[in-house]
Amino acid sequence: MCEGTGWKRVERSGLSGVTRCECAAAARTETLKEHSNIPPRYLNASLDNFIVPTEPPMARKNLGTALMQVRAFVREFPAPERPGLLLLSESNGVGKTHLAVAAMRALLERGHECVFWDYQNLLDRIRSGYDAASGAADREAYRSALDAEILVLDDLGAHRVTEWVEDTVTAIITYRCNHRKPLIATTNLPDADLAGQVVAYTSAGGTAVYKKTLTETIGARARSRLFEMCRLVRILDVEDYRVKNGR
Ligand SMILES: Nc1ncnc2c1ncn2[C@@H]1O[C@H](COP(=O)(O)OP(=O)(O)O)[C@@H](O)[C@H]1O
Ligand SMILES: [Mg+2]
Ligand SMILES: [Zn+2]
Repeated sequence: MCEGTGWKRVERSGLSGVTRCECAAAARTETLKEHSNIPPRYLNASLDNFIVPTEPPMARKNLGTALMQVRAFVREFPAPERPGLLLLSESNGVGKTHLAVAAMRALLERGHECVFWDYQNLLDRIRSGYDAASGAADREAYRSALDAEILVLDDLGAHRVTEWVEDTVTAIITYRCNHRKPLIATTNLPDADLAGQVVAYTSAGGTAVYKKTLTETIGARARSRLFEMCRLVRILDVEDYRVKNGR
């Protein structure tokens, strides 16, 4: 229709002009996808292939609610009050990353720029970016975490705790919060406020093990900013999808 120019001819009330061709939007989405950094394993994760089990009822309710909340987040994006999304679950393999990528892919289709970063990987890249010998790509990591229209931060807090980590994460989250830039994050750390109790579990040996909380790992400031700017989606008591499905 446009012979690859991105503009096509239109006739309106006898006048001829040009208008943006649909292929331009499709090309933009393609470019955005190429730069989205989605790990190959999650390339097909979508809202439509997220399975809500019929049994047990708890899982149906929890996963059904989570899926609905993520769908609403996408539909209403960007919500003026809380433009971000935080997926929390202490269990692994329950679909946090799947849902985060599914939301991000739906937003990419609408022409929003989204960049995926595994938290640990991002911090490693930022750290090596300070090293003069490292390549420009590493120095870019920090900028992309600050500037991307939508940042997807997977497995927040999965890193050893150092002052440097806390400062870096606080800087990224604070910057994004101040500039009203949306963030989609996942974490399996417990949150003392949400749990409403001391967070601990008993190990096989019978001793109480205290799990580090979100606040202890990323610091109180980053945690409070995160809660301010994100809708919270909690997934409780659901079995690991991979274990259950024998993968
Ligand atoms: N309800 C679900 N429906 C379809 N696939 C799922 C579901 N839950 C998890 N998965 C798949 O199982 C794997 C593990 O899920 P993942 O999102 O990585 O879990 P988490 O981030 O909570 O640890 C992924 O490949 C994901 O696509
Ligand atoms: Mg995950
Ligand atoms: Zn065209």
